[in-house]
Amino acid sequence: MAKGSEISGFYKLTVADRVKAIKDFAGLSDEEEALLQKPSGLGFDVANRMVENVIGVMPVPMGVAMNFRINGKDVVVPMAIEEPSVIAAASNAARMTRPTGGFQATSTDPIMIGQIQVVGIRDANRARFEVLAEKDRLLKHANAQDPVLVSLGGGARDLEVRIIDTFQGKMMIVELLVDCRDAMGANAVNTMTEAVAPLIEEISGGHVYLRIISNLAVKRLARAKATFPKEELGGEDVVDGIVNAYAFAAADPFRCATHNKGIMNGVTAVVLATGNDTRAIEAGAHSYAARSGHYTSLTTWEKDSNGDLVGTLEMPMAVGIVGGATASNPVAKLAVKILAIKTARDLAEVIVSVGLAQNLAALRALASEGIQRGHMSLHARNVAISVGAKGDLIEKISAQMVAEKKVRVDRAKELLEKFSQP
Ligand code: MEV
Repeated sequence: MAKGSEISGFYKLTVADRVKAIKDFAGLSDEEEALLQKPSGLGFDVANRMVENVIGVMPVPMGVAMNFRINGKDVVVPMAIEEPSVIAAASNAARMTRPTGGFQATSTDPIMIGQIQVVGIRDANRARFEVLAEKDRLLKHANAQDPVLVSLGGGARDLEVRIIDTFQGKMMIVELLVDCRDAMGANAVNTMTEAVAPLIEEISGGHVYLRIISNLAVKRLARAKATFPKEELGGEDVVDGIVNAYAFAAADPFRCATHNKGIMNGVTAVVLATGNDTRAIEAGAHSYAARSGHYTSLTTWEKDSNGDLVGTLEMPMAVGIVGGATASNPVAKLAVKILAIKTARDLAEVIVSVGLAQNLAALRALASEGIQRGHMSLHARNVAISVGAKGDLIEKISAQMVAEKKVRVDRAKELLEKFSQP
């Protein structure tokens, strides 16, 4: 009989007892059970306090990207990612821009938008003015929710009101603009929107439903710019190829999704390594890329009068270095320490620099030799490991598969069998 997934009181069990229950449910071997209980940098106690029903920790490799020079300072960048080649590619691209001074990065104040949805208003424009007239009272009430943030120089700064047409009729959207300082800010913003909602109902006579932060963080942007000398890239033809690759992405959403995915390889890896919310950043990135109504590239690439390549990346960057997982996950804390940054804005500026480097590396490979050659040897190692190769055999099998241009599981199995024979 199939076992159920409704295990009563599961959440109340210890981590060890949960593992036993899941072992039974999924028919795990003793070896597999031991894998779940292997110690990691993130102890079970911490993990168990971070999310619910914890049975283990999912390890992702963390590496460091080298060669980054950002705003005149050398930075070593921790990146957590499962995909081979990404960290090497970022390091390589960062090296290529060093002769021209590396990355110049800037960012806006860390302002997040909190939305309050108001329905059932008879005269939307009148309600809008009534809410705006009470702006000071509303901001004061919002700030009363977070004296610590206010004492650090942050807090609700402004309030805007938009009227939108929906298939349910007109809605009034009240937006709180909150300076989150060094926090990502979701908790602070959501608390503020919930606190002012009753006042907004009272002022407008409408009914509030949603009160929540927006991940389209257009007022919390980071921007990086860098020049890559043509000699570093492999000549002017490669520069032209990269500009053409950008033109393709800017015009075509099918290509652009992959182009922006390449940027996010770098961005998300740093966001994850520092314990930040990868989904919030991904949501912000793609909605920002579509803000004109046409989904387009987050980067721009052009050739300057020397024939060198100049790139920019601008995107929302709602990351924090206090609160959330960044504070509770000791590995994330360590990543922030390695970065040697002082503020959330510093972190945002590092992340867009890595995103720009990552895009450059992908476009350069795509516009010249293609990405498979660089990928292949790392991919081959993973294929060898996946069929059970250990120690020296990993290198031996992967080298053979690359030489034969047959990087496949079936070939890896054959080679493992062959090389394992005494
Ligand atoms: C692979 O993870 C990322 C790329 O596909 C990005 C791109 O196509 O620009 C190589």
